[in-house]
Amino acid sequence: MVGVRSSALTNVPTLYQRPAPDYALLKGMMKFAGYSFALSFHPMPTSNTILNRCRLSHTNLCTPMFFSAYYTQKRQSHHNSGAVAKYYLPPWFSVAPMMDWTDNHYRTLARIISKHAWLYTEMVAAETIVHQKDNLDRFLAFSPDQHPIVLQIGGSNIENLAKATELANVYCYDEINLNCGCPSPRVAGHGCFGVSLMLNPKFVAEAMSAIAANTNVPVSVKCRIGVDDHDSYDELCDFIDMVSSLSPTKHFIIHSRKALLNGISPAENRSIPPLKYEYFYGLLRDFPNLTFTINGGITSVDEVNAAREAGAHGVMIGRAAYNNPWHILGHVDTAIYGAPSSGLTRRQVLEKYLAYGDSVLGKYGYRPTVRDIVKPLLNLFHSAPGNGLWKRKADAAFRNCTTIKSFFEETLVAIPDTVLDSLVAEPSPGRGDLFANVDSLLPPPYRTTEEIVICA
Ligand SMILES: Cc1cc2nc3c(=O)[nH]c(=O)nc-3n(C[C@H](O)[C@H](O)[C@H](O)COP(=O)(O)O)c2cc1C
Repeated sequence: MVGVRSSALTNVPTLYQRPAPDYALLKGMMKFAGYSFALSFHPMPTSNTILNRCRLSHTNLCTPMFFSAYYTQKRQSHHNSGAVAKYYLPPWFSVAPMMDWTDNHYRTLARIISKHAWLYTEMVAAETIVHQKDNLDRFLAFSPDQHPIVLQIGGSNIENLAKATELANVYCYDEINLNCGCPSPRVAGHGCFGVSLMLNPKFVAEAMSAIAANTNVPVSVKCRIGVDDHDSYDELCDFIDMVSSLSPTKHFIIHSRKALLNGISPAENRSIPPLKYEYFYGLLRDFPNLTFTINGGITSVDEVNAAREAGAHGVMIGRAAYNNPWHILGHVDTAIYGAPSSGLTRRQVLEKYLAYGDSVLGKYGYRPTVRDIVKPLLNLFHSAPGNGLWKRKADAAFRNCTTIKSFFEETLVAIPDTVLDSLVAEPSPGRGDLFANVDSLLPPPYRTTEEIVICA
Protein backbone atom coordinates (compact mmCIF):
# COMPACT_ATOMS: atom_id res chain seq x y z
CA MET A 1 0.00 0.00 0.00
CA VAL A 2 1.35 3.42 -0.81
CA GLY A 3 1.27 6.22 1.67
CA VAL A 4 -1.03 8.44 -0.33
CA ARG A 5 -3.97 6.15 0.03
CA SER A 6 -5.33 7.25 3.35
CA SER A 7 -4.95 10.96 2.75
CA ALA A 8 -6.36 10.66 -0.74
CA LEU A 9 -9.46 8.95 0.45
CA THR A 10 -10.30 10.87 3.56
CA ASN A 11 -12.32 13.50 1.74
CA VAL A 12 -14.17 11.47 -0.79
CA PRO A 13 -17.52 9.79 -0.27
CA THR A 14 -17.49 6.52 1.63
CA LEU A 15 -18.39 4.65 -1.50
CA TYR A 16 -14.88 5.16 -2.79
CA GLN A 17 -13.35 3.47 0.17
CA ARG A 18 -14.68 0.09 -0.84
CA PRO A 19 -11.92 -1.83 -2.56
CA ALA A 20 -14.25 -4.77 -3.13
CA PRO A 21 -17.75 -3.35 -3.50
CA ASP A 22 -20.73 -5.34 -2.36
CA TYR A 23 -22.68 -4.81 -5.56
CA ALA A 24 -26.15 -5.35 -4.16
CA LEU A 25 -25.46 -3.23 -1.10
CA LEU A 26 -23.80 -0.52 -3.15
CA LYS A 27 -26.64 -0.24 -5.62
CA GLY A 28 -29.18 -0.35 -2.80
CA MET A 29 -27.39 2.47 -0.98
CA MET A 30 -27.28 4.60 -4.07
CA LYS A 31 -30.96 4.12 -4.80
CA PHE A 32 -31.94 4.66 -1.20
CA ALA A 33 -29.99 7.87 -0.99
CA GLY A 34 -31.39 9.07 -4.30
CA TYR A 35 -27.89 9.17 -5.64
CA SER A 36 -27.51 10.12 -9.21
CA PHE A 37 -24.13 9.35 -10.69
CA ALA A 38 -23.10 12.91 -9.94
CA LEU A 39 -23.38 12.38 -6.24
CA SER A 40 -21.80 9.01 -6.39
CA PHE A 41 -18.55 10.33 -7.76
CA HIS A 42 -18.29 13.97 -6.99
CA PRO A 43 -17.80 15.42 -3.55
CA MET A 44 -21.08 16.07 -1.78
CA PRO A 45 -22.79 19.15 -3.20
CA THR A 46 -22.18 21.44 -0.31
CA SER A 47 -19.53 23.55 -1.99
CA ASN A 48 -20.28 26.94 -3.47
CA THR A 49 -19.27 25.57 -6.78
CA ILE A 50 -21.98 22.99 -6.95
CA LEU A 51 -24.49 25.36 -5.45
CA ASN A 52 -23.67 27.72 -8.26
CA ARG A 53 -24.10 24.99 -10.74
CA CYS A 54 -27.50 24.17 -9.29
CA ARG A 55 -28.32 27.83 -9.76
CA LEU A 56 -30.02 27.71 -6.39
CA SER A 57 -29.65 30.37 -3.80
CA HIS A 58 -30.29 28.45 -0.60
CA THR A 59 -27.72 26.02 0.78
CA ASN A 60 -30.31 23.75 2.36
CA LEU A 61 -31.91 23.07 -0.95
CA CYS A 62 -28.80 21.31 -2.13
CA THR A 63 -29.09 18.23 0.02
CA PRO A 64 -28.33 15.07 -1.91
CA MET A 65 -32.00 14.18 -2.12
CA PHE A 66 -33.04 17.56 -3.44
CA PHE A 67 -30.13 17.76 -5.79
CA SER A 68 -30.96 14.39 -7.19
CA ALA A 69 -34.63 15.20 -7.71
CA TYR A 70 -33.78 18.52 -9.33
CA TYR A 71 -31.14 16.92 -11.42
CA THR A 72 -33.31 14.06 -12.59
CA GLN A 73 -36.12 16.44 -13.44
CA LYS A 74 -33.77 18.59 -15.54
CA ARG A 75 -32.43 15.54 -17.26
CA GLN A 76 -35.84 14.20 -18.11
CA SER A 77 -37.13 17.54 -19.27
CA HIS A 78 -34.64 17.72 -22.08
CA HIS A 79 -34.11 14.12 -22.88
CA ASN A 80 -35.60 13.14 -26.18
CA SER A 81 -35.84 9.40 -25.68
CA GLY A 82 -37.39 9.41 -22.23
CA ALA A 83 -35.36 6.36 -21.22
CA VAL A 84 -32.66 7.71 -18.98
CA ALA A 85 -30.82 5.43 -16.62
CA LYS A 86 -31.08 7.26 -13.33
CA TYR A 87 -28.53 5.47 -11.26
CA TYR A 88 -25.04 4.61 -12.28
CA LEU A 89 -22.23 3.05 -10.41
CA PRO A 90 -19.29 5.42 -9.97
CA PRO A 91 -16.74 5.92 -12.75
CA TRP A 92 -14.27 3.55 -11.19
CA PHE A 93 -13.60 2.42 -14.73
CA SER A 94 -13.93 4.39 -17.93
CA VAL A 95 -13.03 3.90 -21.56
CA ALA A 96 -10.96 6.82 -22.86
CA PRO A 97 -12.09 9.23 -25.58
CA MET A 98 -10.35 8.18 -28.80
CA MET A 99 -10.86 9.97 -32.12
CA ASP A 100 -12.15 7.67 -34.85
CA TRP A 101 -12.25 4.80 -32.36
CA THR A 102 -14.81 5.48 -29.62
CA ASP A 103 -17.57 6.29 -32.06
CA ASN A 104 -21.17 5.18 -31.65
CA HIS A 105 -20.37 1.75 -33.06
CA TYR A 106 -17.55 1.00 -30.66
CA ARG A 107 -19.55 2.34 -27.72
CA THR A 108 -22.47 0.10 -28.67
CA LEU A 109 -20.16 -2.89 -28.60
CA ALA A 110 -18.55 -1.77 -25.34
CA ARG A 111 -21.93 -1.37 -23.67
CA ILE A 112 -23.07 -4.83 -24.73
CA ILE A 113 -19.97 -6.26 -23.06
CA SER A 114 -19.91 -4.06 -19.93
CA LYS A 115 -22.98 -2.57 -18.30
CA HIS A 116 -21.05 -0.35 -15.88
CA ALA A 117 -18.00 1.05 -17.67
CA TRP A 118 -18.24 4.78 -18.24
CA LEU A 119 -17.92 5.59 -21.92
CA TYR A 120 -16.42 8.73 -23.44
CA THR A 121 -17.19 10.02 -26.90
CA GLU A 122 -14.43 10.92 -29.31
CA MET A 123 -13.52 14.57 -29.00
CA VAL A 124 -16.06 16.72 -30.84
CA ALA A 125 -14.84 20.22 -31.67
CA ALA A 126 -17.08 22.96 -30.30
CA GLU A 127 -16.99 24.60 -33.72
CA THR A 128 -18.36 21.43 -35.32
CA ILE A 129 -21.30 21.43 -32.93
CA VAL A 130 -21.98 25.12 -33.42
CA HIS A 131 -21.71 25.04 -37.20
CA GLN A 132 -23.60 21.78 -37.66
CA LYS A 133 -26.47 22.71 -35.44
CA ASP A 134 -29.01 21.48 -37.96
CA ASN A 135 -27.23 18.18 -38.25
CA LEU A 136 -26.40 17.47 -34.64
CA ASP A 137 -27.71 13.93 -34.36
CA ARG A 138 -24.91 12.82 -36.59
CA PHE A 139 -22.31 14.04 -34.10
CA LEU A 140 -24.08 13.82 -30.76
CA ALA A 141 -26.90 11.27 -30.80
CA PHE A 142 -26.41 8.00 -28.97
CA SER A 143 -28.65 5.20 -27.78
CA PRO A 144 -29.89 5.45 -24.17
CA ASP A 145 -28.11 2.15 -23.45
CA GLN A 146 -24.83 4.01 -23.64
CA HIS A 147 -25.36 5.83 -20.34
CA PRO A 148 -23.26 6.57 -18.40
CA ILE A 149 -21.60 8.51 -21.17
CA VAL A 150 -19.40 11.61 -21.20
CA LEU A 151 -19.19 14.07 -24.08
CA GLN A 152 -15.67 15.32 -24.70
CA ILE A 153 -15.48 18.66 -26.43
CA GLY A 154 -12.48 20.51 -27.76
CA GLY A 155 -11.97 24.15 -28.50
CA SER A 156 -10.40 27.42 -27.52
CA ASN A 157 -13.21 29.84 -28.18
CA ILE A 158 -15.22 30.38 -25.03
CA GLU A 159 -18.35 31.50 -26.81
CA ASN A 160 -18.34 28.38 -28.99
CA LEU A 161 -17.60 26.10 -26.04
CA ALA A 162 -20.54 27.59 -24.18
CA LYS A 163 -22.84 27.38 -27.19
CA ALA A 164 -21.76 23.82 -27.99
CA THR A 165 -22.48 22.77 -24.41
CA GLU A 166 -25.90 24.34 -24.59
CA LEU A 167 -26.67 22.62 -27.89
CA ALA A 168 -25.53 19.28 -26.45
CA ASN A 169 -27.89 19.53 -23.47
CA VAL A 170 -30.75 18.00 -25.38
CA TYR A 171 -28.79 14.76 -25.73
CA CYS A 172 -28.43 14.38 -21.97
CA TYR A 173 -24.82 13.40 -21.60
CA ASP A 174 -23.84 12.54 -18.05
CA GLU A 175 -20.77 14.77 -17.90
CA ILE A 176 -19.06 17.27 -20.18
CA ASN A 177 -15.30 16.98 -20.48
CA LEU A 178 -12.86 19.45 -21.99
CA ASN A 179 -9.89 18.10 -23.92
CA CYS A 180 -6.66 19.63 -22.58
CA GLY A 181 -4.45 16.74 -23.59
CA CYS A 182 -4.46 16.29 -27.36
CA PRO A 183 -1.00 16.97 -28.85
CA SER A 184 -2.00 16.64 -32.50
CA PRO A 185 -0.55 19.57 -34.46
CA ARG A 186 -3.98 20.10 -36.03
CA VAL A 187 -5.39 20.64 -32.56
CA ALA A 188 -2.56 21.88 -30.33
CA GLY A 189 -0.72 23.85 -33.01
CA HIS A 190 -2.92 25.45 -35.57
CA GLY A 191 -6.15 25.13 -33.58
CA CYS A 192 -4.41 26.10 -30.33
CA PHE A 193 -6.51 23.85 -28.20
CA GLY A 194 -6.01 20.40 -26.75
CA VAL A 195 -2.84 20.21 -24.69
CA SER A 196 -1.80 23.79 -25.54
CA LEU A 197 -4.52 24.89 -23.14
CA MET A 198 -2.46 23.58 -20.23
CA LEU A 199 -0.18 26.57 -20.76
CA ASN A 200 -3.07 28.88 -20.01
CA PRO A 201 -4.87 27.65 -16.88
CA LYS A 202 -6.72 30.91 -16.44
CA PHE A 203 -8.28 30.47 -19.84
CA VAL A 204 -9.19 26.86 -19.01
CA ALA A 205 -10.87 28.06 -15.81
CA GLU A 206 -12.88 30.59 -17.80
CA ALA A 207 -13.79 27.99 -20.40
CA MET A 208 -14.86 25.51 -17.73
CA SER A 209 -16.97 28.15 -16.01
CA ALA A 210 -18.67 28.92 -19.31
CA ILE A 211 -19.26 25.24 -19.99
CA ALA A 212 -20.62 24.65 -16.48
CA ALA A 213 -22.91 27.64 -16.76
CA ASN A 214 -24.56 26.03 -19.76
CA THR A 215 -25.22 22.57 -18.41
CA ASN A 216 -26.63 20.94 -15.32
CA VAL A 217 -24.29 17.98 -15.40
CA PRO A 218 -20.80 17.85 -13.89
CA VAL A 219 -17.83 19.06 -15.87
CA SER A 220 -14.32 17.65 -16.00
CA VAL A 221 -10.94 18.24 -17.62
CA LYS A 222 -8.72 15.63 -19.26
CA CYS A 223 -5.10 16.73 -19.40
CA ARG A 224 -1.50 15.56 -19.50
CA ILE A 225 1.05 16.04 -16.71
CA GLY A 226 2.88 18.74 -18.66
CA VAL A 227 3.87 20.14 -22.03
CA ASP A 228 7.44 20.32 -23.39
CA ASP A 229 9.62 21.97 -20.73
CA HIS A 230 6.63 22.91 -18.63
CA ASP A 231 6.80 19.56 -16.98
CA SER A 232 7.50 20.12 -13.30
CA TYR A 233 5.14 18.78 -10.69
CA ASP A 234 4.60 22.30 -9.38
CA GLU A 235 3.50 23.55 -12.81
CA LEU A 236 1.00 20.71 -13.02
CA CYS A 237 -0.27 21.63 -9.55
CA ASP A 238 -0.53 25.29 -10.52
CA PHE A 239 -2.74 24.24 -13.42
CA ILE A 240 -4.98 22.04 -11.27
CA ASP A 241 -5.10 24.61 -8.49
CA MET A 242 -6.11 27.48 -10.76
CA VAL A 243 -8.67 25.54 -12.80
CA SER A 244 -10.30 23.99 -9.74
CA SER A 245 -10.38 27.14 -7.68
CA LEU A 246 -11.59 29.47 -10.45
CA SER A 247 -14.15 27.13 -12.02
CA PRO A 248 -16.58 24.40 -10.99
CA THR A 249 -14.20 21.68 -12.20
CA LYS A 250 -13.64 19.09 -9.48
CA HIS A 251 -12.77 16.06 -11.58
CA PHE A 252 -9.53 15.74 -13.55
CA ILE A 253 -8.49 12.87 -15.75
CA ILE A 254 -4.73 12.73 -15.85
CA HIS A 255 -2.96 11.10 -18.78
CA SER A 256 0.19 10.51 -16.79
CA ARG A 257 2.79 11.49 -19.37
CA LYS A 258 3.64 14.90 -20.75
CA ALA A 259 3.09 15.93 -24.37
CA LEU A 260 5.89 16.97 -26.70
CA LEU A 261 4.96 19.59 -29.28
CA ASN A 262 8.21 19.16 -31.20
CA GLY A 263 6.73 17.44 -34.22
CA ILE A 264 6.43 13.86 -33.04
CA SER A 265 3.18 12.20 -34.05
CA PRO A 266 0.16 11.81 -31.76
CA ALA A 267 0.88 8.06 -31.60
CA GLU A 268 4.49 8.72 -30.54
CA ASN A 269 3.14 11.17 -27.98
CA ARG A 270 1.34 8.23 -26.42
CA SER A 271 4.51 6.20 -26.01
CA ILE A 272 7.70 8.31 -26.08
CA PRO A 273 7.23 10.62 -23.08
CA PRO A 274 7.62 8.40 -20.01
CA LEU A 275 4.70 7.69 -17.71
CA LYS A 276 5.02 9.36 -14.32
CA TYR A 277 2.34 7.85 -12.13
CA GLU A 278 3.99 9.50 -9.13
CA TYR A 279 2.68 12.85 -10.37
CA PHE A 280 -0.84 11.45 -10.38
CA TYR A 281 -0.50 10.13 -6.84
CA GLY A 282 1.08 13.42 -5.80
CA LEU A 283 -2.11 15.17 -6.97
CA LEU A 284 -4.24 12.82 -4.89
CA ARG A 285 -2.16 13.71 -1.85
CA ASP A 286 -2.06 17.46 -2.50
CA PHE A 287 -5.66 18.03 -3.64
CA PRO A 288 -7.72 15.85 -1.32
CA ASN A 289 -10.95 17.69 -2.19
CA LEU A 290 -10.72 16.92 -5.89
CA THR A 291 -11.43 13.73 -7.79
CA PHE A 292 -8.78 12.22 -10.05
CA THR A 293 -8.91 9.52 -12.68
CA ILE A 294 -5.62 7.96 -13.73
CA ASN A 295 -4.92 7.23 -17.39
CA GLY A 296 -2.02 6.01 -19.51
CA GLY A 297 -0.44 2.60 -20.01
CA ILE A 298 -2.92 0.59 -17.96
CA THR A 299 -3.70 -2.66 -19.71
CA SER A 300 -5.56 -5.08 -17.42
CA VAL A 301 -8.25 -5.26 -14.76
CA ASP A 302 -5.57 -6.28 -12.23
CA GLU A 303 -3.83 -2.98 -12.91
CA VAL A 304 -7.12 -1.09 -12.61
CA ASN A 305 -7.68 -2.62 -9.20
CA ALA A 306 -4.07 -1.94 -8.20
CA ALA A 307 -4.44 1.72 -9.18
CA ARG A 308 -7.62 1.99 -7.12
CA GLU A 309 -6.05 0.24 -4.16
CA ALA A 310 -3.26 2.79 -4.32
CA GLY A 311 -5.92 5.51 -4.01
CA ALA A 312 -7.04 6.45 -7.54
CA HIS A 313 -10.70 7.44 -7.58
CA GLY A 314 -11.13 6.24 -11.14
CA VAL A 315 -9.13 4.50 -13.84
CA MET A 316 -9.41 5.16 -17.55
CA ILE A 317 -8.19 2.73 -20.20
CA GLY A 318 -7.84 3.63 -23.86
CA ARG A 319 -5.96 1.46 -26.29
CA ALA A 320 -6.21 -1.82 -24.39
CA ALA A 321 -10.01 -1.51 -24.24
CA TYR A 322 -10.12 -0.94 -27.98
CA ASN A 323 -7.54 -3.51 -29.01
CA ASN A 324 -8.89 -6.26 -26.78
CA PRO A 325 -12.48 -5.38 -25.84
CA TRP A 326 -13.58 -8.88 -24.88
CA HIS A 327 -10.85 -9.53 -22.36
CA ILE A 328 -10.73 -6.04 -20.87
CA LEU A 329 -14.38 -4.99 -20.87
CA GLY A 330 -15.57 -8.54 -20.26
CA HIS A 331 -14.18 -8.37 -16.71
CA VAL A 332 -15.10 -4.83 -15.77
CA ASP A 333 -18.53 -5.55 -14.27
CA THR A 334 -17.39 -8.51 -12.19
CA ALA A 335 -13.77 -7.75 -11.26
CA ILE A 336 -14.06 -3.98 -10.81
CA TYR A 337 -17.69 -3.37 -9.83
CA GLY A 338 -18.34 -6.71 -8.12
CA ALA A 339 -21.49 -6.94 -10.26
CA PRO A 340 -22.91 -10.07 -11.81
CA SER A 341 -21.49 -11.09 -15.14
CA SER A 342 -23.65 -10.50 -18.22
CA GLY A 343 -23.16 -14.19 -18.96
CA LEU A 344 -22.90 -13.42 -22.67
CA THR A 345 -20.85 -15.36 -25.14
CA ARG A 346 -19.29 -13.69 -28.14
CA ARG A 347 -21.96 -15.23 -30.37
CA GLN A 348 -24.61 -13.50 -28.26
CA VAL A 349 -22.67 -10.24 -28.30
CA LEU A 350 -22.56 -10.44 -32.10
CA GLU A 351 -26.29 -11.18 -32.30
CA LYS A 352 -27.04 -8.04 -30.31
CA TYR A 353 -24.58 -6.03 -32.36
CA LEU A 354 -26.11 -7.33 -35.59
CA ALA A 355 -29.51 -5.89 -34.65
CA TYR A 356 -27.84 -2.54 -34.00
CA GLY A 357 -25.63 -2.65 -37.10
CA ASP A 358 -28.31 -3.34 -39.66
CA SER A 359 -30.58 -0.71 -38.10
CA VAL A 360 -28.05 2.10 -38.56
CA LEU A 361 -26.44 1.05 -41.84
CA GLY A 362 -26.61 3.94 -44.32
CA LYS A 363 -28.50 6.15 -41.90
CA TYR A 364 -26.70 9.28 -43.13
CA GLY A 365 -26.58 8.75 -46.87
CA TYR A 366 -23.91 6.22 -47.66
CA ARG A 367 -22.53 6.32 -44.08
CA PRO A 368 -22.13 4.42 -41.95
CA THR A 369 -20.87 1.69 -44.24
CA VAL A 370 -20.53 -1.99 -43.39
CA ARG A 371 -16.83 -1.30 -42.82
CA ASP A 372 -17.57 1.57 -40.38
CA ILE A 373 -19.91 -0.62 -38.36
CA VAL A 374 -17.74 -3.71 -38.35
CA LYS A 375 -14.50 -1.86 -37.49
CA PRO A 376 -14.77 -2.19 -33.68
CA LEU A 377 -15.54 -5.90 -34.03
CA LEU A 378 -12.23 -6.60 -35.71
CA ASN A 379 -10.55 -6.90 -32.31
CA LEU A 380 -13.24 -9.04 -30.69
CA PHE A 381 -11.28 -12.25 -31.29
CA HIS A 382 -7.92 -10.82 -30.25
CA SER A 383 -5.46 -13.75 -29.97
CA ALA A 384 -8.24 -16.35 -30.27
CA PRO A 385 -8.03 -19.31 -32.66
CA GLY A 386 -9.32 -18.30 -36.10
CA ASN A 387 -8.60 -14.58 -35.59
CA GLY A 388 -6.15 -14.28 -38.52
CA LEU A 389 -8.46 -16.09 -40.94
CA TRP A 390 -11.48 -14.01 -39.81
CA LYS A 391 -9.59 -10.81 -40.53
CA ARG A 392 -8.60 -12.01 -43.99
CA LYS A 393 -12.18 -13.02 -44.71
CA ALA A 394 -13.34 -9.65 -43.40
CA ASP A 395 -11.08 -7.87 -45.90
CA ALA A 396 -12.70 -9.76 -48.75
CA ALA A 397 -16.22 -9.39 -47.35
CA PHE A 398 -15.92 -5.60 -47.13
CA ARG A 399 -15.80 -5.59 -50.93
CA ASN A 400 -19.11 -7.35 -51.52
CA CYS A 401 -21.27 -7.46 -48.39
CA THR A 402 -24.05 -4.91 -48.19
CA THR A 403 -25.48 -5.89 -44.81
CA ILE A 404 -23.98 -6.79 -41.45
CA LYS A 405 -25.91 -10.06 -41.55
CA SER A 406 -24.27 -11.11 -44.83
CA PHE A 407 -20.90 -9.98 -43.49
CA PHE A 408 -21.28 -12.29 -40.51
CA GLU A 409 -22.46 -15.18 -42.67
CA GLU A 410 -19.44 -14.82 -44.89
CA THR A 411 -16.78 -14.40 -42.20
CA LEU A 412 -17.75 -16.08 -38.95
CA VAL A 413 -17.13 -19.55 -40.35
CA ALA A 414 -13.50 -18.76 -39.57
CA ILE A 415 -14.13 -18.75 -35.82
CA PRO A 416 -14.52 -22.11 -34.05
CA ASP A 417 -17.80 -22.66 -32.14
CA THR A 418 -15.81 -23.18 -28.94
CA VAL A 419 -14.59 -19.59 -29.23
CA LEU A 420 -17.98 -18.18 -30.19
CA ASP A 421 -19.86 -20.02 -27.46
CA SER A 422 -17.61 -19.71 -24.44
CA LEU A 423 -17.84 -17.14 -21.70
CA VAL A 424 -15.00 -14.73 -21.11
CA ALA A 425 -12.00 -16.61 -19.69
CA GLU A 426 -10.31 -15.75 -16.40
CA PRO A 427 -8.36 -12.51 -16.86
CA SER A 428 -4.68 -13.02 -17.53
CA PRO A 429 -2.69 -11.58 -14.63
CA GLY A 430 -1.58 -8.00 -15.15
CA ARG A 431 1.18 -6.08 -13.45
CA GLY A 432 -0.45 -6.01 -10.03
CA ASP A 433 2.69 -4.29 -8.71
CA LEU A 434 2.54 -1.44 -11.26
CA PHE A 435 2.10 1.16 -8.54
CA ALA A 436 4.14 -0.57 -5.84
CA ASN A 437 7.04 1.92 -5.94
CA VAL A 438 5.04 5.05 -6.48
CA ASP A 439 5.22 5.99 -2.82
CA SER A 440 8.99 6.33 -2.87
CA LEU A 441 8.87 8.44 -6.04
CA LEU A 442 6.30 11.01 -4.93
CA PRO A 443 7.33 14.60 -5.64
CA PRO A 444 7.66 16.99 -2.67
CA PRO A 445 4.26 18.27 -1.52
CA TYR A 446 2.88 21.20 -3.47
CA ARG A 447 2.61 24.59 -1.85
CA THR A 448 0.78 27.42 -3.52
CA THR A 449 2.64 30.69 -4.04
CA GLU A 450 0.51 32.14 -1.23
CA GLU A 451 1.63 29.43 1.17
CA ILE A 452 5.28 29.96 0.24
CA VAL A 453 4.97 33.70 0.88
CA ILE A 454 3.28 33.10 4.25
CA CYS A 455 5.97 30.61 5.31
CA ALA A 456 8.85 32.83 4.17
C1 LIG B 1 -6.63 6.59 -31.75
C2 LIG B 1 -6.61 7.45 -30.50
C3 LIG B 1 -7.36 8.62 -30.48
C4 LIG B 1 -7.38 9.43 -29.33
N1 LIG B 1 -8.22 10.52 -29.31
C5 LIG B 1 -8.36 11.22 -28.16
C6 LIG B 1 -9.35 12.24 -28.04
O1 LIG B 1 -10.16 12.49 -28.92
N2 LIG B 1 -9.40 12.93 -26.86
C7 LIG B 1 -8.54 12.65 -25.81
O2 LIG B 1 -8.63 13.29 -24.76
N3 LIG B 1 -7.62 11.67 -25.91
C8 LIG B 1 -7.53 10.95 -27.03
N4 LIG B 1 -6.65 9.91 -27.09
C9 LIG B 1 -5.82 9.59 -25.91
C10 LIG B 1 -6.53 8.58 -25.02
O3 LIG B 1 -7.73 9.12 -24.52
C11 LIG B 1 -5.64 8.17 -23.84
O4 LIG B 1 -5.38 9.32 -23.06
C12 LIG B 1 -4.31 7.58 -24.29
O5 LIG B 1 -4.50 6.62 -25.30
C13 LIG B 1 -3.58 6.94 -23.10
O6 LIG B 1 -4.34 5.91 -22.53
P1 LIG B 1 -4.01 4.35 -22.85
O7 LIG B 1 -2.56 4.14 -22.56
O8 LIG B 1 -4.90 3.58 -21.93
O9 LIG B 1 -4.32 4.14 -24.30
C14 LIG B 1 -6.61 9.07 -28.21
C15 LIG B 1 -5.85 7.90 -28.25
C16 LIG B 1 -5.87 7.09 -29.36
C17 LIG B 1 -5.08 5.80 -29.37
